Amino acid sequence: MNKPLNQVLIIFGASGDLTKRKLIPALYELFIQNLLPDKFAVLGVSRTKLSDNEFRERMDGFLPKTNQAKSFKELLFYEPLGTSEKEGYQLLKQRLGKLGDELGIPANYIYYLSTPPSLYSVIPKNLHEVGLSKSENHFRRLIVEKPFGTDLASAKELNVKLLHYFDEKQLYRIDHYLGKETVQNMLVTRFSNGIFEPLWNQNFIHHIEITSAESLGIENRGGYYDHSGALRDMVQNHLLQLVGMVAMEPPGVIEADAIRNEVLKVFQAIRPIPENQVSRHVIRGQYTGSVINNKKVNGYRDEVGVDNFSRTETYVALKFFIDNWRWAGIPFYIRTGKMLPTRVTEIVIHFKHVPHQLFGSKGGYSPVNNQLVIRIQPDEGILLKIGMKTPGAGFNVQTTNMDFHYSDLSNEHLPSAYERLLLDCMQGDATLYARGDAVEEAWRFVQPILSAWQANAEIPIYGYPAGTWGPDCADDLIIGNTWRYPCKNLTNDGLYCEL
Ligand code: BG6
Repeated sequence: MNKPLNQVLIIFGASGDLTKRKLIPALYELFIQNLLPDKFAVLGVSRTKLSDNEFRERMDGFLPKTNQAKSFKELLFYEPLGTSEKEGYQLLKQRLGKLGDELGIPANYIYYLSTPPSLYSVIPKNLHEVGLSKSENHFRRLIVEKPFGTDLASAKELNVKLLHYFDEKQLYRIDHYLGKETVQNMLVTRFSNGIFEPLWNQNFIHHIEITSAESLGIENRGGYYDHSGALRDMVQNHLLQLVGMVAMEPPGVIEADAIRNEVLKVFQAIRPIPENQVSRHVIRGQYTGSVINNKKVNGYRDEVGVDNFSRTETYVALKFFIDNWRWAGIPFYIRTGKMLPTRVTEIVIHFKHVPHQLFGSKGGYSPVNNQLVIRIQPDEGILLKIGMKTPGAGFNVQTTNMDFHYSDLSNEHLPSAYERLLLDCMQGDATLYARGDAVEEAWRFVQPILSAWQANAEIPIYGYPAGTWGPDCADDLIIGNTWRYPCKNLTNDGLYCEL
C-alpha cells in the first residue's frame, strides 16, 4: 500500500474524550504498522491551555508504556484556541506554517471536528476566512463527527453551511460503523461469491433483521442522550448504513462515488412510515431500574443529566420496506437498545422455506429456517443455519450451524474502525464516509417518526427492566416469526442465553 502524502492532522476538540479514547490509539496503531505518512504531525486544538508536553502527557493513559509510544508522542503538538473566536485562527495558521517549516511537512491538512455540534459550521467558516479551507497545491479535508444534524431540516442546513466553505469532495462525514471490518466484509461476502447474490432478493429472502444491542446504559452521556434517543443516536446513521450495505445493488467498481451512489439509491427507495402509522410500525422503549447479577441498576430517568419525566427512547424496533425491484414486499426489521442482556450487532438474512416439506424434525413438521447471520461484533464472523439429517432411522431434520469466526484467522490484525477511517481519509478515499445526499435521505426516512413522537404524546413508550430484551410487543412486529435472541458468541441463540 502506498503511504499517504505528508500531512498534518488538526484535531479540534482535542481535550475531549474521543481524542484520547479513539483517535490517538488508532493513530498509534497506524504508527506501529508503519502506515502513517513519512512526515506527519497531529496538532491538537481546543480551548484548554496546554503545552505540547502537557498534551502528550494527557495521552499517556491511552498508550502503552513502550519506547515506540514515546517516539509516537513526539508527533503530537498542541495549540490552545477558543474555536469560536475568529482572532485565534491567524495564530493557528502561523502555528501550522511553523510546524510545517520545522518538520518539513507541506501544507496538506486534515481537520477533524470532534467538538460540540454547535461548532460544526463555525470552525469551517473561520478556517475559510484565514485561507485554510481551499488550496490549489495542497489538500484540505474536513472530517465531521456525528451527530450530523438533529433532524432533516438541521442536517440540510448544516450541509449548506459546510458547502459554503468546503467542496463535497473535501468533506468526510464519519460513521464509525462503516469502518468496522465486518461491515466492509459484507460487500466482499456478497460480491465476491457466486453463491449468495443469486439468492439475495425477494424471490428467496423472507425478511431481514438487524440487531444492535448494548449491555451498557448511557454512561455519563445523559446530557447528550436525553436530547437524542436511540433513533437519532443509532438508527439514522449506523444502522441505516448497514441497511445500505446489505440492500445495495452491486456497484460498477469499488470506488467512493460508485458505492455511495448505490447506498443513496437504497435510502431513496426506503418507504417512509406515515406519521399516522408510526405506532404500528415503530416500538419505542426506555429502561427502568432493575437488578442484574445481584446488582441494583438505575432506570434511565434516574441517570445523571436525564429529565425525571423523560420520554426519550433508549430502545427502538421498527419495520419498513424498500420499494425497489430487488426488495419489493420484503420486510426489514431494525432493533437497537441500551441495557439489553448482551452487546451484539448482527444482521440476519432469513431465507424462505422450501416450497414443499418432505421431512420432519423430531418434534413434528417444523420447517428448517435457513438463516445467514452476519456478525458485526463481537466474535465477528458469519454463520449459516442449514437443515441436516439427524443420524439414525427415518429422515428427521435438525438445524445445524456452519460458522466462520474472524478469530480463526491467526495473527490477522483486525483494525479498529477509527484506524481504518483515518487512514482512508489520509489517502483521500471517501468510500467509507457518508455522502451529504445520503445523510439527508436517511433523515428523510427518520423524520416522520420523530415528528409523530413529538406531536402525539399518546404513542406509548414502553418501560423494560434493564437487562432484558426490551418491550415484549417488539415481537409482534415480526408476524409469524420472532427476533433472533443472540448471545455474545456467534453460534448460540435463544431467549435465555445470557443475562
Ligand atoms: C455511538 C453512539 O455512535 O455508537 C453510542 O453515540 C453507541 O451511544 C455507540 O454506544 C456504539 O458503537 P459501537 O462501536 O460500540 O457499537
